[in-house]
Amino acid sequence: MSLQVVPAAGAVLERVLDDTYSIWNDGLSREHYGKSWAAQVKTPWGAGHLDRIALVDGPHVVSSAKRYDLSLRFDGRIRRVLGIGAVFTAEAHRGRGAARELLSRMLDTAVAEGFEFAMLFSEIPPAFYERLEFVPVPLTEWTIEVDQKRGGAPAMLVRSGDDRDLPNIIEMSAARAAGARLALDRSEDFIRFGITRKRLQSGLAPAGMRTTEFLVVEEGHQAVAYLVATAQDGRWMIEEAGDRDPSGARLGAMLQVMLARYPSERVPEIRGWWPQSLVPPQLTIAASMPTQEVLMIRPLRDRLLPLPPLASAEVVYWHSDYF
Ligand SMILES: CC(C)(COP(=O)(O)OP(=O)(O)OC[C@H]1O[C@@H](n2cnc3c(N)ncnc32)[C@H](O)[C@@H]1OP(=O)(O)O)[C@@H](O)C(=O)NCCC(=O)NCCS
Repeated sequence: MSLQVVPAAGAVLERVLDDTYSIWNDGLSREHYGKSWAAQVKTPWGAGHLDRIALVDGPHVVSSAKRYDLSLRFDGRIRRVLGIGAVFTAEAHRGRGAARELLSRMLDTAVAEGFEFAMLFSEIPPAFYERLEFVPVPLTEWTIEVDQKRGGAPAMLVRSGDDRDLPNIIEMSAARAAGARLALDRSEDFIRFGITRKRLQSGLAPAGMRTTEFLVVEEGHQAVAYLVATAQDGRWMIEEAGDRDPSGARLGAMLQVMLARYPSERVPEIRGWWPQSLVPPQLTIAASMPTQEVLMIRPLRDRLLPLPPLASAEVVYWHSDYF
C-alpha cells in the first residue's frame, strides 16, 4: 500500500462527493451538493482558505477531509488555525487507521505551513480525536423565547442586509468577541463567505425547505444591529447576530418584527449559539445544552503547552462558523 495525500480535484473530487453525499447532503440533490461545493471554493474567501484533500492508494480514494485556513483570537493573540471538516473514510477501508493517517499528515503539513492550532467539530464520540491530542471546547446552544409585543411590532427600519453593511457588522462582531478568550477573528470576506454558504444551502435545496434571512436595523444610513437566521421545519437557527448597543435591545426588537410576520399559532422554536454576554431584554432563555457537534482544538507547535481550561462563557462562536 502506498498512501499519498493529494488535492481533491477532477475524478478524485467527484468520488469524494459521491462518497460523502449521503452524510452531508443537507437535503440537496447530488448535483446541487456538488454545485454548492464548487460555488463555495469560488468565493473570494473560499478560493484562498478552503479546499479538500484526499488520501489515495493508487487509483483508490481511501479517506478525505476539508481544510479551512482560519484566524482565531485566543487569549488575546491572533493565531492561524487549521479547521478540519468532513473527515471521511470509504466504507471498504474503515478501521485500518486511514483517517488517523490522513489527520496526522494534515497536522504535519499544517505545522510546516505555519499554523499554530488545529480545530474541528466532532460528530462522533470525541475519543477518536482525543487520541490525536484534541481537547473539547465547551459550546452552548440556547433555545430562546421572544416576548411578543402586544399591539404590533416595534416601529423600526428593518431591511435586508447587503455588502455595504459588512464594515458595521465587522465592528459589531469584533466588539462582541473582544471580551472572549476564544473567538474567530472574522474578516469581511469571511463573513460574506458564511452568508453565501447559508444562502447556497437554502437556494439549492428543494423549494420551501429552508430559508436564509440576513436583516439589519438601520439608523442614520448605518447598520446598527443585524441578524442572519435560517429557518427549517418550524425552527429558526440564529446563525449570527450583533447589536451596537451592548444591551442588544435592537436585536431583540428585530426578532419581534420577524415574529410579527408569522402567524401566532406557528411560533417557531428559536435556537442559537449566543454569546452569554448578549441577551437582549426581550429574550428569555428557555433551555441550554452543549452543542451536539463538539468543538475541539489542539496546539500544533507548542505541543507541551497545556491548554488552559475554557468555560463556555469565555467562548464566542456563532453557528454560522460551524464547519
Ligand atoms: C470516522 C471515520 C472517518 C473513521 O475512519 P477510519 O479510517 O475507519 O478511522 P481509523 O481506522 O483511523 O480509526 C478507527 C477509529 O475511529 C473511531 N470511529 C469510527 N467511526 C466511529 C463512529 N461512528 N463513532 C465513534 N467512533 C468511531 C473509532 O475510535 C475507531 O477505533 P476502533 O477501530 O479502535 O474502534 C469513518 O468511520 C467515517 O468516514 N465515518 C463516517 C463519516 C464521519 O462520521 N466522519 C467523522 C466526522 S467528525
